[in-house]
Amino acid sequence: MSSRVLLLLSAFLVPVLSTNSPIDHTRWLAAQSKADSWISSMNLTEKAGIVTGTLSGVCIEYVAPIERLGFSGLCLQDGPAGIRLADLASVFPAGVTTAATWDKELMYERGSAMAAEFKAKGAHVILGPSGGPLGRSAWGGRNWEGFSPDPYLTGIAMDHTIRGIQDMGVQASAKHLVGNEQETQRKPTTINGKTVEAISSNIDDRTLHELYLWPFADAVHAGVASVMCGYNRVNETYSCENKHLMVDILKGELGFPGYVMSDFFATHSGVRAIEAGLDMNQPGPLSLFQIGESYWGPNIPEAVLNGTLSMNRLDDMVRRILTPFFYLGQDEGYPTIDPASDALFFEGFDMLSLGTPTPVGRDVRGNHSVLIRQIAAAGSVLLKNENATLPLDPSHLTNIGVFGSDASDPTTGLIYPDDGFEIGTLIIGGGSGGGRPSYIVTPLDAVKSYAREIGARVQYNFNNTALAAGDFSGIYPWPDVCLVFLKTWETEGVDRISLEADDDSAQVVNSVASLCPGRTVVVTHSGGANTMSWATNPNVTAIVAAHYPGQESGNSIMDILSGKINPSGKLPYTIAANAADYNAPIVNITGPEAEGSSAWQSDFTEGLFIDYRHFDEQDINPLYEFGFGLSYTSFELGSSLAVAPSRKNLTGYPPRVNSTLSVGGNPHLWETVVECSVDVSNTGPMAGSTVVQLYVSLSEANIPPNTPMRTLRGFEKVHLETSETQTISFQLTRRDVSYWDVMAQDWKIPAGNINISVGFSSRDRRIEATTVLLQG
Ligand SMILES: *[C@@H]1O[C@H](CO)[C@@H](O)[C@H](O)[C@H]1NC(C)=O
Ligand SMILES: *[C@@H]1O[C@H](CO)[C@@H](O)[C@H](O)[C@H]1NC(C)=O
Ligand SMILES: *[C@@H]1O[C@H](CO)[C@@H](O)[C@H](O)[C@H]1NC(C)=O
Ligand SMILES: *[C@@H]1O[C@H](CO)[C@@H](O)[C@H](O)[C@H]1NC(C)=O
Ligand SMILES: *[C@@H]1O[C@H](CO)[C@@H](O)[C@H](O)[C@H]1NC(C)=O
Ligand SMILES: *[C@@H]1O[C@H](CO)[C@@H](O)[C@H](O)[C@H]1NC(C)=O
Ligand SMILES: *[C@@H]1O[C@H](CO)[C@@H](O)[C@H](O)[C@H]1NC(C)=O
Ligand SMILES: *[C@@H]1O[C@H](CO)[C@@H](O)[C@H](O)[C@H]1NC(C)=O
Ligand SMILES: *[C@@H]1O[C@H](CO)[C@@H](O)[C@H](O)[C@H]1NC(C)=O
Ligand SMILES: *[C@@H]1O[C@H](CO)[C@@H](O)[C@H](O)[C@H]1NC(C)=O
Ligand SMILES: *[C@@H]1O[C@H](CO)[C@@H](O)[C@H](O)[C@H]1NC(C)=O
Repeated sequence: MSSRVLLLLSAFLVPVLSTNSPIDHTRWLAAQSKADSWISSMNLTEKAGIVTGTLSGVCIEYVAPIERLGFSGLCLQDGPAGIRLADLASVFPAGVTTAATWDKELMYERGSAMAAEFKAKGAHVILGPSGGPLGRSAWGGRNWEGFSPDPYLTGIAMDHTIRGIQDMGVQASAKHLVGNEQETQRKPTTINGKTVEAISSNIDDRTLHELYLWPFADAVHAGVASVMCGYNRVNETYSCENKHLMVDILKGELGFPGYVMSDFFATHSGVRAIEAGLDMNQPGPLSLFQIGESYWGPNIPEAVLNGTLSMNRLDDMVRRILTPFFYLGQDEGYPTIDPASDALFFEGFDMLSLGTPTPVGRDVRGNHSVLIRQIAAAGSVLLKNENATLPLDPSHLTNIGVFGSDASDPTTGLIYPDDGFEIGTLIIGGGSGGGRPSYIVTPLDAVKSYAREIGARVQYNFNNTALAAGDFSGIYPWPDVCLVFLKTWETEGVDRISLEADDDSAQVVNSVASLCPGRTVVVTHSGGANTMSWATNPNVTAIVAAHYPGQESGNSIMDILSGKINPSGKLPYTIAANAADYNAPIVNITGPEAEGSSAWQSDFTEGLFIDYRHFDEQDINPLYEFGFGLSYTSFELGSSLAVAPSRKNLTGYPPRVNSTLSVGGNPHLWETVVECSVDVSNTGPMAGSTVVQLYVSLSEANIPPNTPMRTLRGFEKVHLETSETQTISFQLTRRDVSYWDVMAQDWKIPAGNINISVGFSSRDRRIEATTVLLQG
């Protein structure tokens, strides 16, 4: 790393309090008064019906209409990668794929296109995006639904996704608040008639603010309509009953004006949950086997009448639910619910419409396949490319080998079974973050089209058992290039037990590579980190982490392999050399101890040190670091990093503000306090995009111990033609250069040096500069 320290430039820029929240106060208050006028005419039963879900048989969660008021009801649908299990809808790239693009515009466009489909299906609320799990543990089964274990990157992705969704007039629900970092024992279980409570994520206040809550602050700041509490406990209290979390922090400190809804059957009480800040119970009943019974529902009028629940609080709940509905114009001609939106509820076991013929769905896909292909290509990370193996050179290619269980069509059809499947490509993970594709472009399909264009032969074998055993019978003559496709099945409800790709993948790679040395390209379809023992095998000359790409899988990876698109994805997580290098394993208790009523405890003792912060702190060399990704061209930064504090009279703590609507918390936290700029040039042979990343190190002398040595606090993706140079600028907010002061319960800018470095990954930092915002 060529590190040049530059002292701060003296120019002070004009101070601006530009907090950039899209929420329009005047329109919000108007929406609230519409809600209030309905509330004033609603009876208790109607109010209870707004806050308690009703099973509909079409929408996964539902609020029943009130005809008398002309209220259409609310249809809530899974999930974060497009409307799930609906007929004729798109399967978009997963959250992790989107994070790997590091492209704010694509994050917005994806949100907007998904919302267009939800809206056209008549769904008012998207149950997403997911900012929790953040990805504390590399083994977490749902990490891929969210974005990145870095809270800054996840926060930006939440912000842009939510704006994209809500600008289309659809409500987003930021999930899961908070600490839903493992699937194992995520819900309470009953053993021998005794309840074993769900895992408790025990998180200290600073870690909560600087890691796990951070993306939710961005979500609230972006105006998110709803926040979903999770299945887990936080500090031994269920997240959906945690008053400190929902009332003090979310609605108090972050100024959240919308509604908190429960995850599916995550409500465990009536008045207790309501007093703790829960505003909506979904799906409503106690369980799928106790339809008609609820902690809420008819108990709500009774609790108001017997004085245990105040009418004010009930009105507050209804107001929080109806205000976003009016604010986003959902009372004005919203599309009707497509009865085929949930044709396959519980894989064919549709409890409520048994026997009724399934209608054909409304086709809502539009031209979204173009965007899906683009995002998946942009989220493919080129990890290794020796001897310019990629892009493929058609002039020397007559015979292409395609290998691995991930290359072809799923032999089980288009519905993913709960436990994955052996032969067939993986475009998305399982559970509520999955989707029902109307088609899949497989890697094999795309290689075949490419081969037809260049007049090459394609040979293949998808049987990993045979490949691992070195059985290549039928492959002749031996291919000019061997493309090996690997997959890693990840699903809601189950954590990963291994970080290896599935189906004896390491043996398959080594086996193919030994017969195809110097011409073996490995592509992984995975929801997060994989260990890659084979990455250092010299016979493997190229590796692409293509993540979960959505329905255009083959086209998007072929765009990268052929060089039609220059790869620009960067890892949104760390790939370790060995699984043991990661910290924060899944808590898994076996034997009699697992049956203690509060036995399941997950102490977040690593504090702020997850993912690259842990590797940096422990000085562990990763295989591929956070932020890393190659290109077919090369980029250089200019020689200087300009750093200019935006104002002179900065105070350590933000000035106090009393605003009736400060979404995201104190607006001063979102104010720009430092501006930085740097030049970036394309010095290589072809046009391409790169991501300039900015990391901040706070002065060790003036911050509490256990602070990471550097954290991501800015990034910009830029497209450059050959020899082109552009100036990239970064606006750092007060929050970006503060730490959470537990004693003061506020964000504080430390006195002394603040080091700012920019580069192309967390370990490839090219220039550093130092500034002082507050004198020590
Ligand atoms: C509340 O209004 C509904 C109509 O929306 C009506 O069916 C119900 O009887 C009313 N309940 C009471 C307690 O008045
Ligand atoms: C959890 O407990 C820790 C330690 O007492 C405390 O610092 C933190 O604020 C608590 N967090 C929540 C969300 O209750
Ligand atoms: C009031 O009603 C609620 C809801 O049915 C019930 O749980 C609670 O026990 C009642 N309290 C009293 C004092 O009657
Ligand atoms: C998709 O169609 C919309 C209009 O329906 C258009 O604005 C947009 O540019 C199209 N996108 C692509 C990638 O073709
Ligand atoms: C895969 O190969 C193994 C070993 O050669 C063989 O036993 C198995 O039947 C094959 N599976 C399929 C689906 O062809
Ligand atoms: C937890 O332990 C159970 C029982 O031994 C095992 O089946 C499961 O795979 C383990 N899960 C993880 C994530 O290690
Ligand atoms: C690489 O390929 C050569 C040629 O087939 C083989 O001899 C060698 O063992 C392979 N290396 C590894 C690390 O697999
Ligand atoms: C790269 O290409 C050169 C020249 O063809 C060859 O000698 C060398 O072995 C190749 N390296 C790898 C890793 O395949
Ligand atoms: C800081 O200075 C700016 C003008 O440079 C002024 O608008 C602002 O009120 C001052 N803030 C404080 C806390 O003095
Ligand atoms: C903030 O302003 C509101 C409305 O003017 C007032 O009711 C409240 O007491 C104020 N809060 C603080 C902390 O000053
Ligand atoms: C900031 O940079 C200076 C000069 O390279 C170095 O001495 C100091 O340790 C750095 N401080 C932090 C907190 O990284």
